[in-house]
Amino acid sequence: MSSAIATSTSNQPLQSLDEVEDFYKTRYPEPMPAAGAVPKVGYAPEKKTEEFRNYEADARPTVREFYRLNHTFQTYDFSATKRKEFLGLNRMTMGIWDAAEYLNKLVDDSDPDTDMSQLEHLLQTAEHLRSDGQPRWMILTGFVHDLGKILCLWGEPQWAVVGDTFPTGCAYSQKIVFPKFFEANPDSQNPRFQTRNGVYKEGCGLDAVNLSWGHDEYIYHVCKDYLPLSGLYMLRYHSFYPWHREGEYGHLLNDQDRSHLKWVHAFNPYDLYTKSHAKPDVKALRPFYEELIAEFFPAKVRW
Ligand SMILES: [Fe+2]
Ligand SMILES: [Fe+2]
Repeated sequence: MSSAIATSTSNQPLQSLDEVEDFYKTRYPEPMPAAGAVPKVGYAPEKKTEEFRNYEADARPTVREFYRLNHTFQTYDFSATKRKEFLGLNRMTMGIWDAAEYLNKLVDDSDPDTDMSQLEHLLQTAEHLRSDGQPRWMILTGFVHDLGKILCLWGEPQWAVVGDTFPTGCAYSQKIVFPKFFEANPDSQNPRFQTRNGVYKEGCGLDAVNLSWGHDEYIYHVCKDYLPLSGLYMLRYHSFYPWHREGEYGHLLNDQDRSHLKWVHAFNPYDLYTKSHAKPDVKALRPFYEELIAEFFPAKVRW
């Protein structure tokens, strides 16, 4: 049991970070079209607005409160400040496997029979990629994709670690879940941040966009010298549901973003729909992953 991290407080409403992931699945019960199929731009535009609202109505109070905090406090300045605070990677040096074990402190005991530890989720995701014959770099990407959640262990609130990401500094898409909660965000009162492009140039590319701060951006920076660009897209944008599932923000994309969206799509089902498989045998799998990690990463990386 990880004490304060798993305990619900006014600022930490979730009993478990998995509540947010489960909510993704409620909203997106089916994967995107199979690999090789042309993904529909704007995956859910047929979905009626009322249906969309039902997800919100049916959301657990803890999840609703989580998004209220997230949408209220994730401003353009907050995102920029957190980038400065964390992306120098000056906190510690630690190997990838050790980081996964460290992250595993983020367990909770609300339902030990069904709840997945963080390490188990990483191994399940990676093992599913492996059993599908995906390339080694992609299996490894699956293994590391949520390591950025160690931000929680450094005292960051849940709303600054998990949840859908969205561009700050420009108008909010109405397809972001719980859009009403943005009314309490100070940026919504700043006309500079509320035009279509906001502080950005049309077609500037996502690299130039400050998405709301969270575990995706952090793990992308930890890994950016070691994994191929396709894997880095999976890391950096796996929670950017307004883009990869709703097809929003096309006006900010550049050619590289457009050509790499298919990798973000390819990764999403492994992240979202593998959780009911059998629990992985951590001890038995460790040698394979240690070897795979050593193929791409140095013994210690900067965090
Ligand atoms: Fe994630
Ligand atoms: Fe995940």
